[in-house]
Parts: sequence; C-alpha cells; structure tokens
Amino acid sequence: MNITFKINGKSITKEVKPALLLIDLIRDHLKLKGTKPGCLEGECGACSVIVDGDAINSCMYLAINVNGKEVTTIEGLGDNENPLDNVQEKMVEHGGVQCGFCTPGMVMTTKAYSDKCKAEGITPTREEVKKSLEGNLCRCTGYAKIIDAAEAVYEN
Ligand code: FES
Ligand code: FES
Repeated sequence: MNITFKINGKSITKEVKPALLLIDLIRDHLKLKGTKPGCLEGECGACSVIVDGDAINSCMYLAINVNGKEVTTIEGLGDNENPLDNVQEKMVEHGGVQCGFCTPGMVMTTKAYSDKCKAEGITPTREEVKKSLEGNLCRCTGYAKIIDAAEAVYEN
C-alpha cells in the first residue's frame, strides 16, 4: 500500500508491504542508517525514533502506521546553523558516548521527553530523567554520564 508521511521535515510517499517494520523502512529503504538495530524485540531502545512527538521503538512499529504522521530520526536533528541539537551537545559535553551504538536512541528518547517537558514548562527531577530513559540500554557507559547529559538539557 502507499503511505505518505513526513520524515525529517520532508514529505514523501512510499509503497510498502503491510508487514514492513519502520526500522527497515528507515534504514533499508530510506538509507538513514543512524537508527540502530539492537535487540529487534523492543528491549534496548537503540532503534528509537520520534513519531508525532513520541519516542517509539521502530523495530516494534509497522511502517504503515506512520501514514499521515511526522517521523524524526537522528539525521533530522540540528540544522545548518547548529549542526548538533542541544541534546547531542550535552551528550558530548558530559561524555555520554563511548561506542556510540545506543546514542541515537538515547538522544531521540531524550529529545522527545525534553521537548514535552519544555512545552509544559516542567523541569524534571534526576529520577524522572532516569525513568524517561529506562527503555534505553547501554552496555558501555554505566549510565551516569548519559543521565548527567539528559539532565543538563534543561539548563538552557
Ligand atoms: S532494536 Fe528496537 S528496541 Fe532494541
Ligand atoms: S555507548 Fe556503547 S552501548 Fe552505549
């Protein structure tokens, strides 16, 4: 079937099979390789992207469900003036990246959560920031620096 949706600000129409997963549409069809395939069973968050403001696991989401929606992947963050989004800058500043495999997922989850908090004028506690990232696993950092980075997003 044909689906029409926006990805990283650009509107596109694609013919997709009903069982195609969003991660495969993004990585294989659209060649956006920043979204990472980890467990492929909804456990690790490496494949997180933002759909209509919510961070979702793209390995557990059918591509047909983005019809009429807006998708943002890690490639959609930043612009010519500021190539790194604030969340990415904080990850770098706080040393929240080691091998980097979990990083796009961590960034997209933090981006969705912080955008919502900011829209509602909320500054979350460290515990709330931690909880917002509980679906994202990292095998390298021990999490503290990632949480530091995600908390620092609210400084600006
Ligand atoms: S690859 Fe999707 S949650 Fe792990
Ligand atoms: S930095 Fe390696 S998995 Fe998180």
